[in-house]
Amino acid sequence: MRYSIKTGSVAAVKTACLVVPRSRAIATAEALGIGEQARLTLAGTKNETGSVASLFSSGKPSRLLVVGKDDEATTEAAFHKNVEAAAKAVAGLDVADATLCLDDFEVDGRDAQWKTRIALAAISQASYRFDVYKSKRPKKSKAKLRRVAVLAKDRAAVAPAVRHAQALDGGLALAKDLGNQPPNVCNPTFVAEAASALAADGVAVEVIEEDGMAELGMGAFLAVTKGTDTPAKMVVVRYQGAAASEAPCVLIGKGITFDTGGINMKSTAGMAEMKFDMCGAASVLGAAKAAIDAQLPINLIAIAAAAENMPGGRATRPSDIVTTMSGQTVEILNTDAEGRLVLCDALTYASRFKPRAVIDVATLTGAQVVALGSQASALYANDDGLADALLAAGEQSRDRLWRMPLWDEYQEQLKSKFADMKNIGGSAAGSITAACFLSRFAKTFPWAHLDVAGTAFKSASGATGRPVPALFQYLLGLVR
Ligand code: BES
Ligand code: MN
Ligand code: ZN
Repeated sequence: MRYSIKTGSVAAVKTACLVVPRSRAIATAEALGIGEQARLTLAGTKNETGSVASLFSSGKPSRLLVVGKDDEATTEAAFHKNVEAAAKAVAGLDVADATLCLDDFEVDGRDAQWKTRIALAAISQASYRFDVYKSKRPKKSKAKLRRVAVLAKDRAAVAPAVRHAQALDGGLALAKDLGNQPPNVCNPTFVAEAASALAADGVAVEVIEEDGMAELGMGAFLAVTKGTDTPAKMVVVRYQGAAASEAPCVLIGKGITFDTGGINMKSTAGMAEMKFDMCGAASVLGAAKAAIDAQLPINLIAIAAAAENMPGGRATRPSDIVTTMSGQTVEILNTDAEGRLVLCDALTYASRFKPRAVIDVATLTGAQVVALGSQASALYANDDGLADALLAAGEQSRDRLWRMPLWDEYQEQLKSKFADMKNIGGSAAGSITAACFLSRFAKTFPWAHLDVAGTAFKSASGATGRPVPALFQYLLGLVR
């Protein structure tokens, strides 16, 4: 999607479709010379938050989309509902461009920047299509919409928000495309190639192969890839947008391109969804792409820990003991708890960058889905400042996170008879004990972990791109 800013009066703006709140519908229609028709048509349409009515005119714009209700609440919730409905409606229309009259939407305590960010992110989400494997593309999925403008009194007031929305659009699309690709295409090599496409001035991409991992002593990471013929890759994208002396923020993503469970194999139910088990990696690459496109003045490193979890003849067995890069030993009692095994070595690797913060993102546990469903990603952190910044970014971007405990008492569940720890903590508090496992490899820097098993994809519609909006918002916050 191309985003831009328009200024001037509604009657003068060149667009195929104008989007206004219902409270401003008649005034706008009058300015376009269709006041009478608007009165008649609107009388027969729903007057509710989240409803959309379509009016036609013979002039330009030829369409007026009216959203919400006459005496609309000026709350964030109402605004969200209205822009999400409007975005869906616009994306489904047969128009190539649309213009949003955001000044006309009132939201208590929120400025034009916020409204622009939220509205354009809704357009990005609603207009996304993944139909590369349809030999005959269904008509409905042929998204016509190419350009969306914000009509603003003050161009300068919304310019940064539009620039950031543009960057986020590209980052979201990358994350969703990678997530939606089938696992016979999107294997670790494919993830590495997608990351390599980010290489540019100020962006270096390094791919660490299995022999490199062996040299680094990544016994846990390598244990996951033993049962497959597809080589694992650890991809490191380094973006330098600030002085080299500035400590970087490191994002790490779980990139299991298919999770069969390994020898502890999953049952039929839900296994096909395990192509989405690389959505963490996709989201850190998406957030990095957005940061790079927006040229944020920060240093950022994105690491994709990519491997396939298969039950081959050389696969890791339940009860195998491996030595992690940190030197700590792990008794692998369940090969289906593989995400934490690739992540723990990536976390140890991250310490070499002397990071200001490390955030890992993973579709880590079914228990997270049970706890929070698809509304919020689970947030764990060893640093309250980092946790608060992420929570605020999640609220700001409407990509919510909810903080969970990392109390020492939970660590007890990871005690192993034979090694320093085991890789599972029993059936109670599964998302928490997974986070506890990771925390043991994040002792030397401020660290946060996002368990996105319930938020990164939807069974019905595929990858959501979450938590790219929250991550990008967090990175924006580092600038100011
Ligand atoms: N990738 C799964 C977690 C998952 C489940 C993601 C559902 C998305 C939707 C992960 O590797 C896994 O298998 N976790 C196990 C851990 C258990 C063996 C301790 C789980 O959650 O059952
Ligand atoms: Mn698993
Ligand atoms: Zn997994």
